Amino acid sequence: MKTIKVRLVGSGFVTHLHLNAFRQVIGMPVEVVAVASRTPEKVREFANRNKIPKYYTDYRNLLDDKDIDVIDVCVPNILHRQVCIDSAEAGKHIICEKPLTGYFGEELQNGIERVGDIPKIEMYKMAVRNADDMMKAIERNKVKLCYAEDFIYAPPVVKAKRLLKVAGGTILELRSEESHSGSHAAYSREWRLSGGGSLLRLGSHSLGLVIHLKNFEGMIKDGKPIKVKSITADVGNLTHLPSFRDEEKKWIVDEWNDVEDWAPLFLTLEDGTKGVVFSNDITLGGIVNTLEIYSSNTAIKVDMAANDAIKAYSPSPEIFGDEYISEKIETKAGWSFPSPDEDWMRGYPQEMQDFVEAVYYDRNPVSDGELGRQVVEVTYVAYLSAEEGCRIDLDELDKRINR
Ligand SMILES: NC(=O)c1ccc[n+]([C@@H]2O[C@H](COP(=O)([O-])OP(=O)(O)OC[C@H]3O[C@@H](n4cnc5c(N)ncnc54)[C@H](OP(=O)(O)O)[C@@H]3O)[C@@H](O)[C@H]2O)c1
Repeated sequence: MKTIKVRLVGSGFVTHLHLNAFRQVIGMPVEVVAVASRTPEKVREFANRNKIPKYYTDYRNLLDDKDIDVIDVCVPNILHRQVCIDSAEAGKHIICEKPLTGYFGEELQNGIERVGDIPKIEMYKMAVRNADDMMKAIERNKVKLCYAEDFIYAPPVVKAKRLLKVAGGTILELRSEESHSGSHAAYSREWRLSGGGSLLRLGSHSLGLVIHLKNFEGMIKDGKPIKVKSITADVGNLTHLPSFRDEEKKWIVDEWNDVEDWAPLFLTLEDGTKGVVFSNDITLGGIVNTLEIYSSNTAIKVDMAANDAIKAYSPSPEIFGDEYISEKIETKAGWSFPSPDEDWMRGYPQEMQDFVEAVYYDRNPVSDGELGRQVVEVTYVAYLSAEEGCRIDLDELDKRINR
C-alpha cells in the first residue's frame, strides 16, 4: 500500500487535533511528514515535540515536494483561500478547516480597522467569489477538497443518520447549536482576520450539519440534495451592553472588535421544511454542541458535548491540576463531567479516516468542498438578512445582483 503523506499548515489549536486524528487512522498507511507555520520557534518546537521530520515558516515550501499527497490547512480563516488555491495548483489534495472562506476586506486600503461595517451585500458577493475561486482551482487541477466539518462525523450524528435512513420520514425541522463563553484565538476578534463573529466561527458547524442532513435526505429519496431556499437571521453584541461592561468580574470573553457575539438563524429549505441554528459567545457552563431532529416519524436528540459516563467533584478548582475536564468549562470546582475522549465524540479521528480513505481510493469525502461553499453562501446571506431586517430568498438575491 502506498503511504499517504500529509503536510500541515499551522501549528496551533486545531493542528494538534488533526495530528492526533491522523495518528488514529486505522488500516490506511498515513504519515505526517512536515509542518509549516509562521513563527520559527513555534514551528520548530511543534515539529520536535511531535516527531515531524521537516518544518518551515513558509507553507509554499511544502508545495515543491513531488511526493506529497495532502496539504492540511489549519490556519486562520483569512488564509484558507490562498493556501488552498496554491495547494490545488501544485496538484495536492486538500483538507481545509471550517469555514471554507469568507469576506475579510481584501480589496480595502490597509489600515481600515472595522471591516465588519462594510455593507453586507458587498461581503456576500466577495465571500461567494472566494469560495467559487477555490472550487474552480480544485476542479481545474482534479484534486480533492475535504472540508473538515467534524460534526458530520461525530458518532451520535452518524447514528442519527442511520436511524433517519431506516425510518424514511420527512425531516420537518432541524435545530442545532454551537455556543460557549468565547474563543481563545486572538484573530477571532477582528472581522479582517476571521470573516465574521459567532455566526461564522461557531454557527458554521451547526449550519454545515443542518445543510448536510437535508442534502442527505434528498439524496436518499430523489438522488438530489435538498438545498436552502431562504434565510432569516439576527446578530447582536451582548457583551457591548453597558450593564455587562459595568460589571467588574468577567467570565465571558468581551474583546470583540467588529464581530458579533450572538446570532440565531432560520432556514427554509427547498421542500418547505425548516432549520434553526443558534450560535453565541455568551454561554457559560461549557460548550454547547447539540442537534435536534424532528421528522414525520422520529424525534432524535444529539448532544456531542454532554457525557455522564463519569462525574467528578472537587471543592476547589486546583485539585484536578492540569488534568483536562471538558471544553470551555470555566471552573473545575464543584461537580463536573470529565470527557473520556472528546475528540472521538466530536468526530475528529473519523473525519481524518474518511479523508485519507477518500484520497487513497479516489472517492469523494462525506464532507466536501461543496458543503463548505454552501455554508459560506448561507452565512453571508444571513448577515445580509440581519442587516436588512428581512427574510432573503436565494433566487431573488441572484436576480438582485444579476448573477
Ligand atoms: N473544527 C474545529 O472544531 C475547529 C476548532 C478551532 C478552530 N478551527 C479552525 O481552525 C483554523 C485555525 O484555528 P486555531 O484555533 O487552530 O488557531 P490558532 O491556535 O491561532 O493557530 C493558528 C496557526 O496558524 C499559523 N499561521 C498564522 N499565519 C500563518 C501564515 N501566514 N503561514 C503559516 N501559518 C500561519 C499560526 O502560526 P504561528 O503560531 O507559528 O504564529 C498558528 O500556528 C481556523 O480556520 C478555525 O476556524 C476549527
